[in-house]
Amino acid sequence: MSHFLDLADLQGDALRQMLDAGAARKAARAGLPKGAVDADAPLAGHVLAMIFEKPSTRTRLSFDLGMRQLGGQTMVLNQSDMQLGRGESISDTAQVISRFADIAMLRTGPHETLSELAAHAQIPVINGLTAHSHPCQIVADLMTFEEHKGRLSGQRLAWLGDGNNVAVSFVQAAALVDFELALAVPKSFAVPPAEIEAARAKGAKITLCDTAEEAAKGASALITDCWVSMSDDPATAEKRAASFAPYQVTQSLMDLGDDPIFLHCLPAYRDSEVTAEVMDGPRSVVFDEAENRAHAQKAVLLYCMGKRHD
Ligand code: CP
Ligand code: NVA
Repeated sequence: MSHFLDLADLQGDALRQMLDAGAARKAARAGLPKGAVDADAPLAGHVLAMIFEKPSTRTRLSFDLGMRQLGGQTMVLNQSDMQLGRGESISDTAQVISRFADIAMLRTGPHETLSELAAHAQIPVINGLTAHSHPCQIVADLMTFEEHKGRLSGQRLAWLGDGNNVAVSFVQAAALVDFELALAVPKSFAVPPAEIEAARAKGAKITLCDTAEEAAKGASALITDCWVSMSDDPATAEKRAASFAPYQVTQSLMDLGDDPIFLHCLPAYRDSEVTAEVMDGPRSVVFDEAENRAHAQKAVLLYCMGKRHD
């Protein structure tokens, strides 16, 4: 069994395997109704428990559907309905969940909460987003990229805006598969330098750009995210908007790329981080990206359960 807490923990070609498994499983079930179980039902008899301490639409839908398509079953637990919400410890919760489920997923704020759950669980634990990182999202994003633009190798992906949890996972991914990541992020919202250094030390090609235009030039994908994340103080929204305004993804920015696609993990806020023209335009593949969360999640679940894709 393996936890899936951060992409930086992955060894060897594990991410490559997940991208290939996600694409292969998607192709294999083309045309089937969404609730139909995959022919091999690899997780039949297994139960996934999902704990949500933060809101979610896509992560909730995709893990639930993905687990069912693998032949397994799901249980969804919201913090407000659990004793966790009344002060029961993470470690006791981990022990209890391990008696009822075969695998667990947690969406929370502090990354330390996730690490603590994993440390005390006897089953694999998946990061369904923390304030620090969002690794599941990046498996879906890279899978979507390859679906539209071919193999990542040698291509340039541009990240514009906040150096947030999704950006951190992109940086970690750049150390595992071959692509160039161009980051255009205001200095006060930078990706933690230690993340950049660690990724570069493993061979990641990361270019730090001063402007959005510099990052977009020659990129095959322009990627952004909301300017206020769930773990950010909403009172900082105005200050953040002023800092991020020059990084908004516009049509003219898209025109600087190499026939780029537009990616966004969603939820999106039109005319903040991206113009409605780009978000709803022909180069936007955000709903393929959302769908691919399910296919990618299935690859993550199989990895955690020790079922490798060959
Ligand atoms: N992209 C993503 O994780 O969406 P949700 O917050 O809706 O799960
Ligand atoms: N950065 C965003 C991602 C949402 C999926 C957040 O943490 O709110």
